[in-house]
Amino acid sequence: MAWYTTAIFYELPLRAFADGNGDGHGDFIGLRDKLDYLKWLGVDCIWLLPVYPSPLNDDGYDIASFYGIHENFGLLEDFKMTVDAIHDKGLRIIADLVVNHTSDEHPWFKEARRSKDSAWRDYYVWNDNDEPYSDARIIFLDTEESNWAYDEQSDSYYWHRFYSSQPDLNYDNPKVQDEMINIMKFWLDLGIDGFRVDAVPYLFEREGTICENLPETHDYLARMRKFVDDNYPGRVLLGEANQWPEDVIEYFGTPEAPEFHMNFHFPVMPRLYMALAQGDRSSIIDIMNRTPDMPVENAQWATFLRNHDELTLEMVTEEERQFMWEFYSPDPEQRMNLGIRRRLAPLMDNDRDKIELMHSMLFTLPGTTVLYYGDEIGMGDNIKLFDRNGVRTPMQWDDSKNAGFSDADPDTLFAPVINDTIFGYQQVNVEAAQADESSLLYAVRHMIATRKEHLVLATASIDWIEDLPDHALCFWRREGETVYLSLNNLSEDDLTIPLPEGQLFTDILSGQNDFTESVTLGRYGYRWLQLQ
Ligand code: NOJ
Repeated sequence: MAWYTTAIFYELPLRAFADGNGDGHGDFIGLRDKLDYLKWLGVDCIWLLPVYPSPLNDDGYDIASFYGIHENFGLLEDFKMTVDAIHDKGLRIIADLVVNHTSDEHPWFKEARRSKDSAWRDYYVWNDNDEPYSDARIIFLDTEESNWAYDEQSDSYYWHRFYSSQPDLNYDNPKVQDEMINIMKFWLDLGIDGFRVDAVPYLFEREGTICENLPETHDYLARMRKFVDDNYPGRVLLGEANQWPEDVIEYFGTPEAPEFHMNFHFPVMPRLYMALAQGDRSSIIDIMNRTPDMPVENAQWATFLRNHDELTLEMVTEEERQFMWEFYSPDPEQRMNLGIRRRLAPLMDNDRDKIELMHSMLFTLPGTTVLYYGDEIGMGDNIKLFDRNGVRTPMQWDDSKNAGFSDADPDTLFAPVINDTIFGYQQVNVEAAQADESSLLYAVRHMIATRKEHLVLATASIDWIEDLPDHALCFWRREGETVYLSLNNLSEDDLTIPLPEGQLFTDILSGQNDFTESVTLGRYGYRWLQLQ
């Protein structure tokens, strides 16, 4: 079985994780220092957010050079040392590969805008007016009015799907296609275990389409995959295609032309929150039933509760979005684009039972689990910070100055630490959580360990149990003779679930064996059983 199909991933922004040189920004020295913590937690693979030179208008997703490291983080040499240190610990690392666009400060763009005759002109998508491709939606709705931006220097318009400071690359240009393969080669040669590939649906533009999921895009992604398989077997490509199940499934490709080894399952994520809020499992079952079977072998879904972006509500209906907004972001400031810029623990009102239940669903549904740094200790967010920065604050290591994140003068930190009465670092930090075996951190760590003892939970088939009250999310997971039962109570009321008669079950979280006829779950309770 391919390693990534059962792994636990841990997403971290280097800037926010640990500052090793005291300049107020997290860096590679800091990360190396914290590898023992990640090992202790039980994660298998780090997903490192962009670390490349960048003006940071989109926190590094606006790349000014594909072949370097941002000066705040260290040198390329540091990156290499970190990859080696990660491997020495038996961990893996994937990095972000931003294929769709560059920063407007990238030399290609600076050259391209210099004149219409520039040799780099065709690296980007230009037009004399802003009319083409009008069916393409705007993604950064709060800030952008158009996917075209006017460039004074060359008196024309360029195409961009994200911020106007992020011009889209022109994939109709074979040189661009080759450049991206060379970039992949560069980082794979440094030993990383793969990429999380950013914003993949938007590589090509075609008139009369929404400019997403086009066949040309799939062809190019299959070329990327072939390059990896031919030259770097065992490395992984994880695609970020925020699409409906029937569209995202296409990003696995076909047996003849595979694309990504893994894709995020975006649609199921908001439905975990919705099911909890409504005390009704049906949205989860509906979306999972709507998810086509895996078209290729050795492929896997990546599932998650939160990440570094807003909790996206793109893959829900208008009505569901309104519900989610009203329920989870009562303060309009908490909303952003089509989403909610809050962290897991605040979304759950810091209700420990709910936070654990969300993890229980995450770990027992099919897929590889991707955790977001800080959620394991129940970190909060800071709505006052710009854009999505409120969910990217310094990791809270202990209750000392700057939450143990940095020795710097607090005024020089890249962002203030969370300091409120509930989520402040004085209460919520790794050291305190590690000192208390009844902490959320221990509960999450125990779920990780249990899930890793029962790898089948990542891959087994799923069968829903539907003759139960709406608030019971219960399902079988089966692979051959190995059978599990995940029981989750989406409500405040006790829930009694009858079990098949005369069967011996082991509660794999507590280790207890039981012949009981039924299980009663308390408020937002959960149990993971294995049939003996
Ligand atoms: C998706 C990334 O997750 C997000 O943070 C970024 O702003 C956009 N892609 C553009 O790169």
